[in-house]
Amino acid sequence: MTTRRIKTLTQFIVERQSQYPQAKGALTRLLNDLATAAKIVNREINAAGLVDILGYEGTDNIQGESQKKLDVYANERFIEALKGGGECCAIASEENEKIISFQNEFSERGKYVIAIDPLDGSSNIEANVSIGTVFSIYRRISEAGGGTLEDLLQPGVNLVAAGYIIYGSSTMLVYSTGKGVNGFTLDPSVGIFCLSHPDMRYPENSQIYSINEGNYIYFPEGIKQYIKYCQEDDSSTLRPYTSRYIGSMVADFHRNLIKGGIFLYPGTTKHPKGKLRLLYENNPVAFLAEQAGGKSSDGFRRTLEIEPKTLHQRSPLYIGPKAMVEKVEALMREFSPEFEKQ
Ligand code: AHG
Ligand code: MN
Ligand code: MN
Repeated sequence: MTTRRIKTLTQFIVERQSQYPQAKGALTRLLNDLATAAKIVNREINAAGLVDILGYEGTDNIQGESQKKLDVYANERFIEALKGGGECCAIASEENEKIISFQNEFSERGKYVIAIDPLDGSSNIEANVSIGTVFSIYRRISEAGGGTLEDLLQPGVNLVAAGYIIYGSSTMLVYSTGKGVNGFTLDPSVGIFCLSHPDMRYPENSQIYSINEGNYIYFPEGIKQYIKYCQEDDSSTLRPYTSRYIGSMVADFHRNLIKGGIFLYPGTTKHPKGKLRLLYENNPVAFLAEQAGGKSSDGFRRTLEIEPKTLHQRSPLYIGPKAMVEKVEALMREFSPEFEKQ
């Protein structure tokens, strides 16, 4: 019988940290804080069918979307864990209009700021479909005290780390500190994340496309052309591709990373900047995609190079294996150049 040595998330990040003698362990503690909150949120999600927690909370978030109880719960748990951990001096969350700046005994120590979507894909909760949490970690720019808006309005190229948790048929934490992407699966019996997907890379032969085709009539011509391209018969390029769309970005991205595919959330004639939020949805997955050998773009520009102007700004997202994203960019340039300025 062969036995494989289990490596836990904590062992993995401590080992990585020991490769950098100058590191003081702050990022290690920050990732641990996120993992702890994720386990608590995971427990609540698993119990959602049992307890009376489903349904609308009755308040709208700042995007005007109705919040579910679990959105609120997850937001509170992550804020609590990050505040208590002391390594983070400010948070931008999908669920809060303004940044949350920590003015407490820890704020002198916290060197990092976090942008987070505490619960992604919340419309899928009631249907027992995979949902997620997605986060970006930056080093603060301000010198001391509570973190500032400026600390959070940094382009993705400044990211120190990013990742997501997927609450699915199993729960996984996938993250990168800029040295590849690693995935950890939660063993629910002991509550420990174990390394299950080392060095994740997009596979060579990718043939999935993920897009909400219900919005087709509002799509830019370049995207209509790309959908047509995906559906054409050409065995040399493995077409027609397969269409898969969950409606939780984290889950769609995760599946595409493992199986090979592109995720598209275009700007439309109604909403030229699309739906997804640059700071805490697009940037973290863009960082992971690049680390996994892929690419992320708004159709014209590298996602990570977009200069954020506001906390909740939206941006189109085309993300996946390089060749697939480049094909979208070529068609956008050819057929929808007017979208570049939007
Ligand atoms: P959230 O639940 O955080 O508001 O995010 C939902 C997002 C994203 O997860 C998903 O990809 C997208 O909404 C789906 O939008 P459509 O229903 O327009 O396809
Ligand atoms: Mn989301
Ligand atoms: Mn959300």
